[in-house]
Amino acid sequence: AADIDAAALRADINEFARIAKANNGNRAHGTTGYQASIDYLKQRLDAAGYTTRVQQFTHGGKTGYNLIADLPGRGDPNKVVMLGAHLDSVTQGAGINDNATGSAGILEVALAYAASGANGDKGIRFGWWGAEELGLVGSKAYVSSLNTAERAKITGYLNFDMIGSPNPGYFVYGDDTRGTAIAAALKAGFTAEGIESLSTDIKGRSDHASFKAAGIPTGGTATLSLAPAMTQAEADLWDGQAGQPYDPCYHSGCDGATNVDYDALDAHTDVAAHAAWALTGVKAPAET
Ligand code: PHE
Ligand code: ZN
Ligand code: CA
Ligand code: ZN
Ligand code: ZN
Repeated sequence: AADIDAAALRADINEFARIAKANNGNRAHGTTGYQASIDYLKQRLDAAGYTTRVQQFTHGGKTGYNLIADLPGRGDPNKVVMLGAHLDSVTQGAGINDNATGSAGILEVALAYAASGANGDKGIRFGWWGAEELGLVGSKAYVSSLNTAERAKITGYLNFDMIGSPNPGYFVYGDDTRGTAIAAALKAGFTAEGIESLSTDIKGRSDHASFKAAGIPTGGTATLSLAPAMTQAEADLWDGQAGQPYDPCYHSGCDGATNVDYDALDAHTDVAAHAAWALTGVKAPAET
């Protein structure tokens, strides 16, 4: 799999922070900051050869947007691996760890996958969701828009939400039965990075839940668990701060460009790439 460039992730994060700053400090559902975030991603993906589609939905009297990107000519279009992240922030801040990190991470995986010429036995698709913060609204709208045949073509959905917490964990989640191959691919990715990961259950707390509810296998990574603070055992494993929150700026005004551990973001993104290559069945010469 590609080794995602940490500097490229940093540049994307800086762009989302700039967008928030130029748009009343946030990138929430129904705002110009959200629209500018969609525009940034779409232009990068279009330039890389993706076929992009903006899907509209309405929530709370405001129009919301999902961005869906398919890469033509790679793998079987009837067997697709999908990676997703929510793009909206809360109104309290810029939403940088939550979730410019996941949004930037899957953007860079998408760009690297296209540039590499990777061509496996499955296709690849990416999705950025609106209004996650208001109840997984965008991802639910996307899954609801698919008919039975279209749902069956998605062999797995991998979710990335908060992958750069300043006191980072290296967690993998996957639904117990159908998501085991996904969780295994993500764990193998952490192993390849020389990082010990832990399994956790984030319940229905992010967009994977919309796919799981439709019977699609799901998994993902996060730098936090549902616990309020990092445990001593986790701190020992990852050289972290026991008893401190994974992200002290969660859903607050200080979730800006400095609220990111860039090494953790790079590691989680490299793991996302590892899983994307492995699950689409790319026969690569060697892991780089
Ligand atoms: N999805 C939650 C939010 O956006 C946060 C979360 C992310 C919780 C990852 C658990 C794991 O607010
Ligand atoms: Zn690697
Ligand atoms: Ca990297
Ligand atoms: Zn989130
Ligand atoms: Zn959130």
